[in-house]
Amino acid sequence: MSQLKSYPPSDEFVAAANIKSRQEYDTLYTQAQEDAAAFWGSLAEKQLSWFKPFTQTLDWQAPFAKWFVGGKINVSYNCLDRHLETDRKDKPALIFEGEPGDERIITYAELHRLVCRLATVLKNLGYQAGDRAVIYMPMIPELAISLLACARLGITHSVVFGGFSAEALKARTLDLDAQLVITADGGWRRGKEVRLKDAVDESLHDCPNVRHVLTYKRTNSAIAMKDGRDVWWHEQDASLDATRESTQAAETCPAVELDSEHPLFVLYTSGTTGKPKGILHTTAGYLLGAQMTMKWVFDLQEKDIYWCTADIGWVTGHSYVVYGPLAAGATSVIYEGAPDFPAFDRLWDIVERRKVSVFYTSPTAIRALIRQGNHWPEAHNLSSLRLLGSVGEPINPAAWEWYHSVIGGNRCPIVDTWWQTETGSIMISPLPGVVTLKPGSATLPLPGVVVDIVDAHGRPAGNNREGFLIIKQPWPSMIRNIWGDPERFKEQYWSRVPGAYFTGDAARRDDEGFYWVLGRVDDVMNVSGHRLSTMEVESALVHHKAVAEAAVVGKPHEITGQAVCAFVTLKKGDWDKASLEKELRQWIAHEIGPFARPDEIRFTEALPKTRSGKIMRRLLREIVTNNAVAGDVTTLEDLSVLSHLAALHDED
Ligand code: WTA
Repeated sequence: MSQLKSYPPSDEFVAAANIKSRQEYDTLYTQAQEDAAAFWGSLAEKQLSWFKPFTQTLDWQAPFAKWFVGGKINVSYNCLDRHLETDRKDKPALIFEGEPGDERIITYAELHRLVCRLATVLKNLGYQAGDRAVIYMPMIPELAISLLACARLGITHSVVFGGFSAEALKARTLDLDAQLVITADGGWRRGKEVRLKDAVDESLHDCPNVRHVLTYKRTNSAIAMKDGRDVWWHEQDASLDATRESTQAAETCPAVELDSEHPLFVLYTSGTTGKPKGILHTTAGYLLGAQMTMKWVFDLQEKDIYWCTADIGWVTGHSYVVYGPLAAGATSVIYEGAPDFPAFDRLWDIVERRKVSVFYTSPTAIRALIRQGNHWPEAHNLSSLRLLGSVGEPINPAAWEWYHSVIGGNRCPIVDTWWQTETGSIMISPLPGVVTLKPGSATLPLPGVVVDIVDAHGRPAGNNREGFLIIKQPWPSMIRNIWGDPERFKEQYWSRVPGAYFTGDAARRDDEGFYWVLGRVDDVMNVSGHRLSTMEVESALVHHKAVAEAAVVGKPHEITGQAVCAFVTLKKGDWDKASLEKELRQWIAHEIGPFARPDEIRFTEALPKTRSGKIMRRLLREIVTNNAVAGDVTTLEDLSVLSHLAALHDED
């Protein structure tokens, strides 16, 4: 790696940075390592606003953690109310850009008012702390408002990304046993309406415990409203204004004093089986992680215009569009639509017009835009930018260099942030005023994050050896449980290496202690920075009437990092392969969501299996990764031969 360039922070950046020197970082890191409880306890006390102070920083009954025990707190209060007593009252909290070109600027005072009104609506409908809501909305301010209103009352929310299908929505609604769904008629994407309410209706056929569907009017298209279940957001909202007193009461709806460990949200993510896992995050610890990383990693300053392009349906949107930025008092940009609509400079147009200073996106988005040519960003004044970020997948050095020079004008540090739905907030990332950047490395763990790389036996692998990335100490924003499945929680994360959290990622540490995250070691694919389990796609495929067996692997893809490749054997019948291929892709869109559609479907007469009948995915991965091999074995006969050959090999 010595031939790779490295980039120390510029003097100008360092002069204004929150954390300026390696020494400052080392001090923080050592403090946290020596006495984690004292470190996190003092941050929680100083940085968060409490109704009642906690009495114990950490109660660790491995692998179950309780942080800030005995404290009473509210995330919505921390994101809104506490700013109203400061100069931030009239500062924009959200800058919204709709895909069709509409815009809204919402100050902290106004956001507080809107969140209080929605919380009152939810209260009037009979919801309270401990209830559960599924949120299925486009990227509009009302999505953030819904999260904050739920948090205000202690309703545990689960946001389902709008790209998921009715089937996927139903599975999540049932697993969470939600009573309430918050949605919209639709949203805009590439000029077309994504019809969300239709999908909700389809998903609710077998969900008897859902009492209400609260629907926001966004696209104004015709939708069905079911009597007694479906209510319009705007009608409920208007009913708050019966009298001046009732309006005032609605607009000052108090934040409920919740336990530090009250379940804030459950976010479903793909695991190694066909069933998604509901990752549970709670209140105070999650909030602290999200807020502190805004300061450490994004070096947040009062004047910043901060934009994270992630959809709120993924964890990045939870922590870095809504909770982190608002808790830290930032101005957070929300854009509804696609980055290439109406043209490939939509992102750069927004950066220029809004004077975005901190910009956080995914390697997939960067690679897709590189392909369109430099003239798109070059047509815009991007001089407002001072810091760039990357998340979701390893960023290849070529994409890093382009991001750094063409977007960042060789002026902006890039924070390559490694973390997961389970970690709640960023774990490994450069502190931009401190760390010399190496393209492709997430660099160093943040203060309070103790990581290591171990071999297959759980022994430290040492430097320059590829191994499994683990986290050795509990941290405040850590996953608390898998919703309804503590056994799976223990087994998936805490059984591989005793006492440590198993990330499922492979990584290497260089001689300077820098981490290079290489990718997943389990059957989880990473497509456009979105996690997708091979099993989930396989079980959807075998649901189709034509499919006998299916094996799915990720294959390297120039833009999306990985793409879904499915090997399929068919039941007896006279199938037209070309039309069946189309149908199966459509089928996956229906069962999971359009983003999960296989890039490639290969029909085969047999799948390579071990003697015990396990599909040899490793072999299939090699086939799709190495085109030379693929060229030889894609025919039906060859794969069946391979399967005989495979049976002679060691059990995989
Ligand atoms: C991958 C997204 C390399 C990794 C926040 C992880 C990364 C999974 C990086 C989590 C990065 C995320 N470099 N790989 N900077 N960031 N990953 O839960 O494999 O959607 O385990 O959370 O994405 O994906 P998730």
